[in-house]
Amino acid sequence: MTLADQVMPKLGMGTFRLEGETAYQSVKMALEVGFRHLDTAQIYGNEAEVGRAIADSGIDRSELFITTKVWNAQLNQKEFIDSVHTSLKKLQLDYVDLLLIHWPSPENGEPMHEYLTELKKAKESGLTRYIGLSNFTIANLTEAMQTLSAEDIFTNQVEVHPYLTNEKLRAFCQAQNIHITAYMPFAVGKVLKDAKIIELAEKYQVTPAEVVIAWELAHGMATIPSSTKRANLQANFKASELALSTEDIERIDDLNCGDRQAVPDFAPQWDE
Ligand SMILES: NC(=O)c1ccc[n+]([C@@H]2O[C@H](COP(=O)([O-])OP(=O)(O)OC[C@H]3O[C@@H](n4cnc5c(N)ncnc54)[C@H](OP(=O)(O)O)[C@@H]3O)[C@@H](O)[C@H]2O)c1
Repeated sequence: MTLADQVMPKLGMGTFRLEGETAYQSVKMALEVGFRHLDTAQIYGNEAEVGRAIADSGIDRSELFITTKVWNAQLNQKEFIDSVHTSLKKLQLDYVDLLLIHWPSPENGEPMHEYLTELKKAKESGLTRYIGLSNFTIANLTEAMQTLSAEDIFTNQVEVHPYLTNEKLRAFCQAQNIHITAYMPFAVGKVLKDAKIIELAEKYQVTPAEVVIAWELAHGMATIPSSTKRANLQANFKASELALSTEDIERIDDLNCGDRQAVPDFAPQWDE
């Protein structure tokens, strides 16, 4: 069992693409529905709205698990720690629970040892409780483990959904005892229209979203679906109550077709 399994709510709310009042209202609704784990990032441009929704909720800080991510342009030694202070100011928080490197620095970018050292400093100075990585491949993780121990790496947040099961990377992480957080669990809505997922939703009398989230959780991953609608947030939150049979988990595994959604031009060479 990893540290993340013990201290992080397995089901969080993502906030990518949510801006301004939509971001504020969506996070406010998510907290009302019961979510206590929120995922934002410097590049999402919504840390201030997430922070305002947290402040207005009146929920005790100790009940919340807040993640943000340092963007590529701030990985350099000069700006890294300042950028975390800026994030905290926007979030109206003294610390985040989890600080991630959003992407491994693009080729010819900052040396990994340098920005991982800054990441460790952020933890040592109390700006974050835990540190982790995002979009790190097996090669990236192997390099990272020259600076961080596997225990230092709270999670590796990567794309995982029924159309991209990311088996190779997941097997590597499991062998190293590195926890996985699955992002884009619905492939941004695509997998919710899948005939097999819809059939299973009918079988269990739940929504397709609940089937997909239950599948992610059954594999021991955390997951962070995003939604702007109360009814969808409620369905997503309820998904942790759903237990799929082993056969149905395997049926969903079989939907894998390597259909990756997040492919910016600076992405690393993925483990296919
Ligand atoms: N680390 C990274 O590089 C990275 C990259 C991408 C994403 N992420 C994180 O992962 C989170 C999730 O990914 P995502 O937001 O891109 O995509 P997603 O969660 O796979 O899908 C979001 C879409 O699903 C819809 N949806 C949500 N719940 C639903 C439900 N119960 N029924 C029907 N439709 C539903 C939403 O529409 P409505 O608003 O209409 O409900 C939205 O269009 C992000 O918000 C972000 O926090 C991280």
